Amino acid sequence: MKIIHSMGSVRQTVLGWRRAERRVGLVPTMGALHEGHASLIRRARRENDEVVVSIFVNPVQFGPGEDFSRYPRPFVRDAALCRREGVSVLFAPKPSALYSTDHQTWVTVEKLAGPLCGPFRPGHFRGVATVVLKLFNMVQPDRAYFGKKDFQQLRVIEQMVNDLNVPVKIVPCPTVRDPSGLALSSRNAYLSPDERAAAPRLRRALRTAGQVLKSRRNVREAQRAARNELRQVPGARIQYLEILDPKTLSVPKKTGPFLLAAAVYVGRTRLIDNLLVRGAL
Ligand code: PAF
Repeated sequence: MKIIHSMGSVRQTVLGWRRAERRVGLVPTMGALHEGHASLIRRARRENDEVVVSIFVNPVQFGPGEDFSRYPRPFVRDAALCRREGVSVLFAPKPSALYSTDHQTWVTVEKLAGPLCGPFRPGHFRGVATVVLKLFNMVQPDRAYFGKKDFQQLRVIEQMVNDLNVPVKIVPCPTVRDPSGLALSSRNAYLSPDERAAAPRLRRALRTAGQVLKSRRNVREAQRAARNELRQVPGARIQYLEILDPKTLSVPKKTGPFLLAAAVYVGRTRLIDNLLVRGAL
């Protein structure tokens, strides 16, 4: 596995692969890799001849007061995971290689960035869409792999690629969970043992909402049931709990499907999760 820090070098490598008609998969990450990332890498390996993993903690997708400076950066461990998983290139650009001091161009996906995390993380999806488009331009992959845990992020990127005719196929991948049902996330590392024990209740609350939605056929009742369940979790604070149309991220159609999505603080750690429910009300 090659570790590359410069755009010129990653481009040269990918150009060589292209000349040899090798298909290239990209797994964009911010590092602190876990089994969820490993599953993206494995899928990318199955579907491509070469796999690039990018690691870049993207400053412009963090708001003031968010965890940019304390975001975990275990580079040596991450590189070992990539090597073990058969990654061809680990691309770890320096911030100065991505953003010049005169950076002025941003990608804004207007409607899809509005709901859910949008109001609580202003500028976040603009930062994500911009860095992902930059990574696509640098690496020029055939396919790129994103987890469904960050469902809104996935929809924003799908829309961007569609709107701007970016020749990259976006591959949505299932959320990976630990045995308790907690969705794997680099931020789980912030949880204390008590918080870690409480965190799986987010998933359980979403499942309760899903059951209520199916049995009572009522969006508000379903939301209420999940909120009530989460209120009983010590140290948990709900930021949002919404039931939306998974395509438009707006009011769902009676015919479904339904996206049940939540952001909950457990102590100081913000966790997000979601559940897709099919079927009509
Ligand atoms: O999901 C992430 O890790 C990041 O938001 C991404 C897509 C790598 C962009 O920085």
